[in-house]
Amino acid sequence: MNVMEIRNTLGASVLCAVMFIGITALPATLAADDDAPARETATAEPPDPRLVSRGKRLYVFCRACHATEEVKGSKIGPNLAGILNRPAASLEDSLYSDALRQQDFVWDEEKLDTWLLRPATLVPGTSMAFVGLPQEANRTAIIAYLKTL
Ligand code: HEC
Repeated sequence: MNVMEIRNTLGASVLCAVMFIGITALPATLAADDDAPARETATAEPPDPRLVSRGKRLYVFCRACHATEEVKGSKIGPNLAGILNRPAASLEDSLYSDALRQQDFVWDEEKLDTWLLRPATLVPGTSMAFVGLPQEANRTAIIAYLKTL
């Protein structure tokens, strides 16, 4: 066997090995694909960092009345840490209006959107003295930020 022949034989066996690995790896890849949709539904959508930072800047409209860290408790308005999926008027240390106390809903994105457009439309008689955010993009950004609290 000369050098060329040795090279060819080596090359062929390497090629065989690669093909073999490729074939044996295939079922695992298919199985991983089958799992993918289940995993997607199990985890929440990752927040868009640019939207969140825009919302954080817009939160300047809320900061005077709402704290965001639980340890700080409530200001004039209730603390907003964990507001997503929290039942309305459910913090004990906050003074809520009777109008909000009488509500029987959980704060989801849709409710927050209506609230931030104009609080009194969602809850007539609310004590949140806030004109509202007419621009949908601003409401979306604040809600994205609220989700991170
Ligand atoms: C002038 C003060 C003030 C400003 C500004 C303000 N809020 Fe409020 N907010 C309140 C008060 C007071 C309440 C309680 C309302 C009630 O009991 O009717 C409230 C209630 C809320 C609630 C309901 C909380 C719960 O526990 O049910 C949310 C959500 C909320 N505010 C979000 C915001 C966001 C987001 C902003 C900024 C865009 C904002 N607020 C701006 C005073 C304010």
